[in-house]
Amino acid sequence: MKNLKIAETLITAAFCCLGLTVVVPAQQPEANYDEAKVGRYTLPDPLITNSGKRVTDKRDWRQRRSEILQLFETHVYGRIPKTSTRINWEVTSTDAGALKGLATRREMTVFLTGAKDGPRMNLLLYVPNKRTGPVPVFLGMNFVGNHGISSDPSITLPIVWLRESRDGAYVSRRATEDSRGSASRRWPLEKIVSRGYAVMTLYYGDIFPDHKDGWKNSIIPAVSPKGNAAPAPDDWNAIGAWSWGLSRAMDYIEKDNALNAKRVALLGHSRLGKTSLWAGAVDERFAIVIANESGEGGAALSRRNFGETVERINTSFPHWFCGNYKKYNRDVASLPVDQHMLIALIAPRPVYIASAAEDLWADPRGEYLSALAADPVYRLLGTDGLAKSEMPGLHQPITSTIGYHIRAGKHDVTDYDWEQFMNFTDRHFK
Ligand code: GCU
Repeated sequence: MKNLKIAETLITAAFCCLGLTVVVPAQQPEANYDEAKVGRYTLPDPLITNSGKRVTDKRDWRQRRSEILQLFETHVYGRIPKTSTRINWEVTSTDAGALKGLATRREMTVFLTGAKDGPRMNLLLYVPNKRTGPVPVFLGMNFVGNHGISSDPSITLPIVWLRESRDGAYVSRRATEDSRGSASRRWPLEKIVSRGYAVMTLYYGDIFPDHKDGWKNSIIPAVSPKGNAAPAPDDWNAIGAWSWGLSRAMDYIEKDNALNAKRVALLGHSRLGKTSLWAGAVDERFAIVIANESGEGGAALSRRNFGETVERINTSFPHWFCGNYKKYNRDVASLPVDQHMLIALIAPRPVYIASAAEDLWADPRGEYLSALAADPVYRLLGTDGLAKSEMPGLHQPITSTIGYHIRAGKHDVTDYDWEQFMNFTDRHFK
């Protein structure tokens, strides 16, 4: 009992026989931060099929890939319904002299099902003014609203989801002036545009408000063929919905002649890093995928007992993954996949995994080892995989088809990270 502590969160235990719902405190082991206590684990082999056959050539990989994709849908992220979406949009503002004349900035409202009275999302796009043809794009969601990535006062203040108090309900309201640019440090727009890339972002709350009841106000009831019906244990949840939103942004990119839809680098930080990996696995139009400090349920191996665990994440964020994922809270070893197989689903497209040394919660070593365990799939598909089989030291980026770095510092997106992302995309887009 010594290493157990009462978790702050509560688990609801339903006692069906009594017809009662009783709330009991969940006891969860404290997070482990000791390498010596990680213990032994065996990873499922991405190159052995469900029926036990070894995949030895590229052609058989497609079949195995669809098996793995289905395993992730069923047990981890839930199924994204195959909708025949035809987006529509309206440009709501344009500034041809944005970022000191470096870029043209455009805001758009996208009608996600084509209908103006259906769900919508707002896109903010910067296209470099100096360009000779369609430009590559960095696409990423943001946490605060599009106005958060720049302090430019002409960006529309969007409707965002906020909470009055720590325990209060989430309400949607117009963002306030003082939140302009609150995330701008994480989006070095001038640098990105100066290197010839367009930048596109959207607010993740437009797609799924990030809290346990967010489902009701998400795009899911409007988009899912099941409408308002309660989700099944293998139905999509927040990460699935956010991924779907990114695919709709991609639909837009395909229609914009200034943008090169074949060169879209999808990136995300933390929970949005988990999302970029899943979106990149599901939608093969994304040419490069970047996951910054994506941790548990992202790049980090679930079986490695270090930092956040499956149980922790499912308890604190029950709305991120599908219902079935909760079955593995205390039995991670029986999961038919681990996160290296998620990275493998992106193969042979370049993928970049980034860690921060002080971000132990995300298990930097587990992120690296996961990238390494995806290497055999990348090699089978004729790429150079992950070039280093030892975890590199700080600030020694690996830029092979599976890229990786660990930098000093905390959980964040820094200029150093962006510098490496752009070096990586420069290399693989050229
Ligand atoms: C929490 C969560 C992580 C997640 C992070 C984030 O720390 O436990 O899994 O990556 O939030 O998204 O900021």
